[in-house]
Amino acid sequence: MTARPTEPTGPPKERAILVGVQFKGEAFSSDGTWPVEASLAELAQLARTAGIEVVGELVQRLDRPNPATFIGPGKVEELVEKVAETAADVVIFDDELSPRHQRELEKALGEGVKVLDRTALILDIFAQHAHTREGALQVELAQYEYRLPRLTRAWTHLARQAGGRAGGATGGVGVRGPGETQLETDRRVIRRRIAHLKRELEKVRAHRSRYRARRRRQGLPVVSIVGYTNAGKSTLLNALADADVLVEDKLFATLDPTTRRVKLPGGRVVLFTDTVGFIQKLPTDLVAAFRATLEETIEADLLLHVLDVTHPQARRQAQAVLETLEDIGAIGKPMVTALNKVDRLPDPQQALEVAEGLPNPVPISALTGYGLDRLLEEVEAALERDLVPLEVVVPFDRGDLLRLIRERGTVEREVHTPEGTRVAARVPRDLVGLLNAVCR
Ligand code: GTP
Repeated sequence: MTARPTEPTGPPKERAILVGVQFKGEAFSSDGTWPVEASLAELAQLARTAGIEVVGELVQRLDRPNPATFIGPGKVEELVEKVAETAADVVIFDDELSPRHQRELEKALGEGVKVLDRTALILDIFAQHAHTREGALQVELAQYEYRLPRLTRAWTHLARQAGGRAGGATGGVGVRGPGETQLETDRRVIRRRIAHLKRELEKVRAHRSRYRARRRRQGLPVVSIVGYTNAGKSTLLNALADADVLVEDKLFATLDPTTRRVKLPGGRVVLFTDTVGFIQKLPTDLVAAFRATLEETIEADLLLHVLDVTHPQARRQAQAVLETLEDIGAIGKPMVTALNKVDRLPDPQQALEVAEGLPNPVPISALTGYGLDRLLEEVEAALERDLVPLEVVVPFDRGDLLRLIRERGTVEREVHTPEGTRVAARVPRDLVGLLNAVCR
């Protein structure tokens, strides 16, 4: 899923005012939290990606959010004026709003002005870009779960809107039960839809985990490409797949269009897989909604972190990615850092200055192909370092295990004995338990 700019089509663009809050004490932190201007610039980019025109911005410095309206009462007045001045029809907050904030703000702004936050906007972009069935179901479910507690009269008939782009059918909307208000009807319909989506997702996930198990049996190491949105993950995956010396068949192309087989310089074949882009202020529960997709990352043998070193917020972006990886429990794996877009730097080696502290950094340009050989060597070396020495006797009827050792590890010696094949090899850590259990 991507946040790539698209050409909006259809009805006239919505006009938005963006609202950012700088909480005191955050402005000067070295990394982690973003200065409000940088975060708002990113929010503007997200809005444009969603096909919304940005017509104004408002910033407030605060100790803590106002419990009712998030920003202070004076700022709310200023916002009301600005909305009238610019004929805006939507206000987008850079921070997640509680259902109460949303209600109070909608009341203050009056009918016809929608209040959104960063999360809702990201969900909308995900919905536009979800291209697998599982992705579409996940986004639709996340949208409904996000909106259910926020339903107000201004938001009735949401059931019809939500999921429209994610491809969901929302049958039964508007059929009011006896004595029900429209709001109650909408809530009931949405709850039913949530239950239905959960059942559908279960089915898709069962299929996906069978597929993953099959891939595991094939025994190929998996390298998961992670990174901030727009860092160049897809470009890199395509560049690796197009460098035909290095690439084999697109074996899984039909099942999973974002996985490619790549041959490393030493001859080992690995699978590279693309994942959803990360972004700062992505609430953890939203990350959790994509858990199934992210299982690829959690189960990968190696993480390839792609970083746009030319972005002014590159360090903060790297930090946001590492934090998200920690949130989903994917930290602690071997990692290689691809310092991307060095074609924009006068000297590619400058990229290393940004990379301080990041594991195994390699300057590359996914666009021109610069550094890709070095990158693959580094991936190979990091996978190699993760191998552990092991000596076992594989029973003759377990040719499958022998194949697994040969494909995923490196064999140092093989000798036939009356009990089976004695193998001295270096194998990935996750195979040690299985081999010790079955072999002698
Ligand atoms: P998401 O799908 O949003 O997570 O993005 P992504 O990380 O997959 O990035 P993508 O490959 O879509 O690239 C984003 C933009 O960066 C595109 O406009 C690319 O052409 C550009 N880009 C990618 N790699 C390079 C590079 O090495 N050099 C330059 N100059 N631009 C690049």
